[in-house]
Amino acid sequence: MTKRFLKTAYGLETADQTRDYYQDWAASYDAEITENGYATPARCAAALARHAPDLTKPLLDIGCGTGLSGMAFQKAGFTTLDGNDLSPDMLAQAKARGIYRSLGLVDLNNPLDFEVGAYDYIAAVGVISVGHAPAHTIIDMLDKLLPGGLFVFSLNDPTLAEGSFTATLDKVLADEQAELYESHHGTHLPGFGMESTVIILRKR
Ligand SMILES: C[S@@+](CC[C@H](N)C(=O)[O-])C[C@H]1O[C@@H](n2cnc3c(N)ncnc32)[C@H](O)[C@@H]1O
Repeated sequence: MTKRFLKTAYGLETADQTRDYYQDWAASYDAEITENGYATPARCAAALARHAPDLTKPLLDIGCGTGLSGMAFQKAGFTTLDGNDLSPDMLAQAKARGIYRSLGLVDLNNPLDFEVGAYDYIAAVGVISVGHAPAHTIIDMLDKLLPGGLFVFSLNDPTLAEGSFTATLDKVLADEQAELYESHHGTHLPGFGMESTVIILRKR
């Protein structure tokens, strides 16, 4: 019987645990998450497409995993996708899809080494979460955009409940680092009884 992973995704504590967990899950991730109705990639892609002035401009899909998020952005019309992730085996699945211009191995707990303005759009679908990329990723990614750049990300219910992620979001809005274009709570993993909020920020 195939091992099930979803129910233990929210108890991870360190980057090493998270990497090992996704290394083990990589081969069966798409099947398990699709079976549970994973809706957040299409919601993020549709939200970003509503505001993006030029879908040919480069989009960085942080924590791209096997590329389900990239598939959703491609389906919404985005043509220039790069991705990165903590897990080499998740990245190998993403590479096999052939939809990314480039892919990189990163840990979002550390600074990323691309130039400010290299991307017009940054996406974090199912990535900024308890036990995954930290709340500070919201600030780090805004710092990498030029004014007018768009950042779309999702926060699932356990992450919203934890408090530090919404506090970081509130702070970037209060400090006027970004403007809130959209924030919608809705379907995430209906088969698992979990929802998420999809947020679009425009860098000021
Ligand atoms: C729930 S999956 C989402 C993958 C993809 N975005 C999607 O929508 O299917 C979370 C991904 O975030 C990656 N991840 C978790 N923590 C990370 C970190 N600190 N740095 C980079 N990637 C991380 C995992 O390896 C995993 O591929």
